[in-house]
Amino acid sequence: MQYRTISNGSTSFEVSTLCLGTMFFGTRTDTATSLAILDRFADAGGTFVDTANNYNAWVGGHGRDSEDVLGEWIRRRGGLGDVRLATKLGAAKKDPALPLQNVEPTNFQGLSAAVVAREARLSLQHLGIDRLDVLYGHVDDRETPIAETVAAFGQLQREGLVGIAGISNIALWRLVEAREEAVRQGVDPYGVVQQGYSYLYPSPGAGRTNDVSVELLDYVDSLAAGAAAAAGIDGRPPLTVTAYSPLHQGAFTRDDKPMWAPMRHASNRDRVRVLHDVAAEIGATPNQVALAWLLGGAVPVIPVVGISSVAQLEEALGAADLVLDPEVRTRLDGADLGATLAAV
Ligand SMILES: NC(=O)c1ccc[n+]([C@@H]2O[C@H](COP(=O)([O-])OP(=O)(O)OC[C@H]3O[C@@H](n4cnc5c(N)ncnc54)[C@H](OP(=O)(O)O)[C@@H]3O)[C@@H](O)[C@H]2O)c1
Repeated sequence: MQYRTISNGSTSFEVSTLCLGTMFFGTRTDTATSLAILDRFADAGGTFVDTANNYNAWVGGHGRDSEDVLGEWIRRRGGLGDVRLATKLGAAKKDPALPLQNVEPTNFQGLSAAVVAREARLSLQHLGIDRLDVLYGHVDDRETPIAETVAAFGQLQREGLVGIAGISNIALWRLVEAREEAVRQGVDPYGVVQQGYSYLYPSPGAGRTNDVSVELLDYVDSLAAGAAAAAGIDGRPPLTVTAYSPLHQGAFTRDDKPMWAPMRHASNRDRVRVLHDVAAEIGATPNQVALAWLLGGAVPVIPVVGISSVAQLEEALGAADLVLDPEVRTRLDGADLGATLAAV
């Protein structure tokens, strides 16, 4: 297992570079299996676990099922130990009578000061801990003034209830504005951003702002220059990228998991073919190569891997120390380009 330091400029700690996603724990993945996965992850040196306050109301749970399973695991082991926990708020149901959905109208609670203050405390209660290492806003909220949301997360960090604040599913310009607003207010800015990201990329026409983009990686890279001193370019604090759906929910290897519509284009089909070729040549699995590609990029990201069995976890763990040769990386990076040029 590898480790890296994440920081918002004033609070820093180390996490494993593989983060365990627990979205279906307590719902699709039963409690016994969930606990076994958590135990094995910790035994293997995993120290970064990801949940949210709304996992998983989409599949019939009450929303906090994942946090509740984690709370049970924490109680059984007598505390978190060296595990760092991230949870999220803002995308639970605003109106409990209506369905939760991530297309408009979303029925999300949003990121008002009242929601942030209340939901953070509820997460602490469900998890049975007194500090959230990382607390993300789950989905950007354009209805609430940025200054209000930033101040609310700043207040939680000041009170010691949250280590590092983060944000997820946000356009780059909104992320930069929020961080600048935090600097103006004298509070710690978001130190982690969680976006969708895998070896596949969306069609440019899809208009998605919730994926990792070249511009986001460039911004993060510019901040990393002074990260050792906890301050990047122009004294701005560093930022870490975590990537959800890094296995594209199984689509690299499973016919029952088709690529999402915005990803279904010829270039991605070429990329999946090369992923399989490379995996066969280096004696790894396509999923392991996809994770290693994320972990070892010029701007490394932390994959948040969704796991529903110990066997799946073992495969993911096999990627933790897998380093791709530069020649292999070049091939993976240029997989679609080669096909496109050949077609011209
Ligand atoms: N911030 C956000 O908005 C957001 C959104 C989504 C997810 N997340 C976080 O990111 C985590 C991961 O996201 P995700 O579940 O969407 O994506 P993912 O990691 O790409 O996919 C996970 C799914 O892939 C399948 N899988 C995993 N390992 C496999 C293997 N070795 N072989 C074959 N199939 C395998 C499993 O499907 P089956 O269970 O069907 O076997 C698993 O549920 C979540 O748990 C959550 O913590 C955050």
